[in-house]
Amino acid sequence: MSELDTLQTQLLQQIENASTLADLDSVRVSALGKKGIITEKMKSLGAMAPEERKAAGQQFNAVKNALAEAIETKKQQLEEAEINARLAREAVDITLPARPEKQGRIHPLYQTYDEVVAIFGQMGFEVAEGPDIEDDFHNFTALNTPKNHPARQMQDTFYLNGEENGEKFIVRTQTSAVQIRTMEKQTPPVRVIVPGRTYRCDYDATHAPMFHQVEGLIVDKETNMAHLKGCLTEFVKTFFELDDVPVRFRPSFFPFTEPSAEMDIGCSRTGGELKIGVGNDWLEILGCGMVHPNVLKACHIDPDVYQGFAFGIGLDRLAMLKYAIPDLRMFFESDMRWIKHYGFVALDIPSTGSGLSMTGGNKR
Ligand code: DAH
Repeated sequence: MSELDTLQTQLLQQIENASTLADLDSVRVSALGKKGIITEKMKSLGAMAPEERKAAGQQFNAVKNALAEAIETKKQQLEEAEINARLAREAVDITLPARPEKQGRIHPLYQTYDEVVAIFGQMGFEVAEGPDIEDDFHNFTALNTPKNHPARQMQDTFYLNGEENGEKFIVRTQTSAVQIRTMEKQTPPVRVIVPGRTYRCDYDATHAPMFHQVEGLIVDKETNMAHLKGCLTEFVKTFFELDDVPVRFRPSFFPFTEPSAEMDIGCSRTGGELKIGVGNDWLEILGCGMVHPNVLKACHIDPDVYQGFAFGIGLDRLAMLKYAIPDLRMFFESDMRWIKHYGFVALDIPSTGSGLSMTGGNKR
């Protein structure tokens, strides 16, 4: 065996014995590096006669290639072993039960929901509910929005596969549908609010395909527009916790109310900051109006005897405004970091001492 063969065998053995990538690399450097043993030996080629040099050169190259190949194979083995060891080390037992959160949070949307229900509750409104899956009649037709009415296009409706009497079911685009369901069941006086989910094909920082509204409806013999204004003004003052809020009612259009209005509240928008209740700018907050006689008729209520008002508020928008939440999409991501930041603590439970304390703030 030539000297070169012996050297090759020794180096291959060293490569095989390397137990880490660092070991392997030092073998590579010691053999093929700038000052490596093979590199040094190759320098002797220059002093050889041309025929001798050719043969020796081929031998050296064969050794170099064999070593490089062995190093590459070993490197792959070591890398794989390292990944396997890491996977074993960091294995997650997915059968373990989730670690409980020590303290849950109330979602800012449900905080807002509770506040709104409490305020209208004190004014004598009852909570009514209706199904998320609606039919065309309750969501549109009975609300004075017949087929081909342009107002239908204001709401990008999700249609479902199921149908009844040739009409496809939908997911409701507005809680106004519950006005009809309430008046079908109940004779006036009616005084309800309807908090609930609504759906439209829309998605950006201030719109989600599923969102929440609160509908309000009063029907009796003498309710008039002044009541509507008083009721909603009182609501925004209480909700935003302000002694006074400038309000204005702008003429608008909804098929189910006549006259219809949009309610704006006073605000300022200086330096990119929105402040409610001060300044000389306006912020749209809800839609409202006097219930259209056709809506009453659709529910077999005589519009010559009864009248009332209705309103619809975006609940998510109220939460965003009151609690300075810039992006609606995060509401529905179930990101614990977000909930911890924006959520509310329900109760303060002292870690020592006895009993529960109910005195803690429910604010962030
Ligand atoms: N349903 C309307 C919407 O989703 C909101 C609305 C406006 C409801 C005026 C009402 C109302 O009851 O009177 O855009």
